[in-house]
Amino acid sequence: MDVRVVEHPLAKSRLSTMRDARTNSAAFRAALQELTLMLIYEATRDAEVAVEPIHTPVARTDGYRLANPPLLVPVLRAGLGMADQAHRMIPEAQMGFVGLARDEETLQPTPYLESLPADLAGRPVYVLDPMLATGGSMVHTISLLTGRGASDVTAICTLAAPEGLRRLEDSGLPVRVITASVDERLNESGFIVPGLGDAGDREYGSV
Ligand code: PRP
Repeated sequence: MDVRVVEHPLAKSRLSTMRDARTNSAAFRAALQELTLMLIYEATRDAEVAVEPIHTPVARTDGYRLANPPLLVPVLRAGLGMADQAHRMIPEAQMGFVGLARDEETLQPTPYLESLPADLAGRPVYVLDPMLATGGSMVHTISLLTGRGASDVTAICTLAAPEGLRRLEDSGLPVRVITASVDERLNESGFIVPGLGDAGDREYGSV
């Protein structure tokens, strides 16, 4: 499984803001948006481009656009904080939605929303979720996508735990991961260490 860690100094600085327990919700959301920009930039690095002639005010030259824009799929709630920025970077993208809540005791994801195009064959899909912890939410989400024919999925996560990466790899699902950090481990409550706490709560408040 291809795991790309974005180690750019600006990415590290935004992730540090998100990790810092003193960062309030507004600043957390702003840092998440800026980091999303960098992760999407990295995710699209090898994307196929279509070339068409354009005219500058001076001359004719080659113009470029994404040949096959991805479907963006934020995983609610926390992934919503990445959706607008990803869409700004890829305005031609379509967006689908998956809503999952992780049971705090069993750590199992419970689905509550699934709004996805019926046929995803031949379409790249970018799943947006700040956290890959046990990997249960991501495996569930990607299974929904492959069930609709997707075979080219990118998980875009600000943070990943080694346990979640292993689970994703063991699932055999067709996925690559773009993240700003692979942290040390999960603690007994299923939180990433050192992590940043609960991304959804830090963005939107606890429910
Ligand atoms: C968090 C996070 C991921 C999931 C990761 O969401 O945003 O979706 O947990 O954990 P996993 O890898 O162990 O499945 P949560 O269920 O807390 O919901 P929220 O986004 O609504 O806060």
